[in-house]
Amino acid sequence: MKLGLVLLSVLALSQVCLCFHEVPHMLVLGIAKRELMKKDMEVYNITAKYLDTYSAQGVDTTSTTTYEENAVWADDIKVYGDAQKAMEMWHYIGNKDSNPENLVLKKDPMADSENALNAYTNIVKVLTNDKFVGQMTEFKVNMLKMLVHIVGDIHMPHHTGSYYNSTFKSDKNEFWGDLGGNRQSINYYTITGEKKTTNIHFYFDSSCFFYTWTNRLVRPLNETYKVYFERELDRIIAQYPKESLNIDNTKTFSDWADESWNIAVGTVYPFLATNKDIHYGDDFYKKSFDMIQKRIVTAGYRLANTLQTLFTPEKGLIKANTPLSYQQPISNNNNNQTNSSTSESSDNQSNKAMAVVFGVLFGLTFVAFIISIIYFKKTTVPSTYQRTSNDLMEAKNVNIQKITSTENNL
Ligand SMILES: *[C@@H]1O[C@H](CO)[C@@H](O)[C@H](O)[C@H]1NC(C)=O
Ligand SMILES: *[C@@H]1O[C@H](CO)[C@@H](O)[C@H](O)[C@H]1NC(C)=O
Ligand SMILES: *[C@@H]1O[C@H](CO)[C@@H](O)[C@H](O)[C@H]1NC(C)=O
Ligand SMILES: *[C@@H]1O[C@H](CO)[C@@H](O)[C@H](O)[C@H]1NC(C)=O
Ligand SMILES: *[C@@H]1O[C@H](CO)[C@@H](O)[C@H](O)[C@H]1NC(C)=O
Repeated sequence: MKLGLVLLSVLALSQVCLCFHEVPHMLVLGIAKRELMKKDMEVYNITAKYLDTYSAQGVDTTSTTTYEENAVWADDIKVYGDAQKAMEMWHYIGNKDSNPENLVLKKDPMADSENALNAYTNIVKVLTNDKFVGQMTEFKVNMLKMLVHIVGDIHMPHHTGSYYNSTFKSDKNEFWGDLGGNRQSINYYTITGEKKTTNIHFYFDSSCFFYTWTNRLVRPLNETYKVYFERELDRIIAQYPKESLNIDNTKTFSDWADESWNIAVGTVYPFLATNKDIHYGDDFYKKSFDMIQKRIVTAGYRLANTLQTLFTPEKGLIKANTPLSYQQPISNNNNNQTNSSTSESSDNQSNKAMAVVFGVLFGLTFVAFIISIIYFKKTTVPSTYQRTSNDLMEAKNVNIQKITSTENNL
């Protein structure tokens, strides 16, 4: 009842502008922020320092007037197009299949390496690399911005795999599946009964269009929207208390992805098998809205825990006045002046090691060179070249196809 009232007051708020999947991402980071401020103010300060770095310098400020807006940076940089194509694949894991017809599937050759799970694992390595503890580098800033985004993405049901059946095929009769729900078109009827033809991926990313056609706001957030956003945070946190959620800090990123996939396979795909229409307020709407809001809050608490783990080693080292630094590894693990004799001797040692490595590499290269001369004299050069180039072209085409069909909504 009380929740109903809160909801109503939220509904009565601004109905003016435009926002798609940005608000759910910002809510995830907003929940993490509030949790960190409660549990570990110093770690919050450190993350705020990282995330505010560019805005403080007047660079890249359009989308970063608040802490939470950094959660959308990974989507904002899609304007760079091909230059960040690999990073675009960091928003999902494409390796889970629902394939009831046992089709021979067509997969993106990059998907095994460029995916959210590998990205997350490597981002964690970057942020915890002890050569850079206490140093705020641009690369770490950017990787943190990716991290706060993909933790949200991986809690969405359609960022982990695809549904494949004989309907979802390309012109070339290849089975690409529904591309994480992007090809599962649905008709969504808004609160006023207006019909919107859209897809199920977007339906969930936008939290059932709650922040698209029901409650709207635009970035960069102005003062009105900042107030709205804070009230929305209050509501969602109150409605889904932490204790009521299965946060379980022993769960890994991979477990979070499994949970999302189980939702897609257990609830969403069975629904889509016989339905294409979703009406604001109907049974499926209510259940899926409740589910996706829980996922948002769950992701927020998990993000808080992740950030606390990652940045605790920088306590006392990153402060309000720490400048952005260049990617220069420091030889010990803290900001103390290095003991010059120690660092010299370890430098000498590493120089020796480098000399050995280069010597060996040089020897190997030379041997390989001789062997390749012998080999190429015996074989026809063009066929080897042709094969590589075809594989590359295929990989490239396949990749282009995938990106084009998903970039609107992922
Ligand atoms: C966090 O930052 C605020 C504002 O700069 C400062 O007043 C506060 O002392 C800091 N808290 C900790 C624990 O570092
Ligand atoms: C924020 O933007 C919205 C939409 O443009 C507008 O209605 C509102 O008055 C703005 N608020 C402020 C404080 O400028
Ligand atoms: C494939 O799945 C879609 C949506 O889930 C459904 O509309 C379509 O009928 C299915 N095709 C076949 C051949 O079962
Ligand atoms: C730096 O070194 C001093 C002693 O040489 C030590 O007391 C201090 O804890 C060190 N600081 C850090 C951050 O490790
Ligand atoms: C520096 O390293 C040397 C050699 O390892 C050691 O004897 C000396 O005590 C160290 N000095 C400090 C200040 O840690």
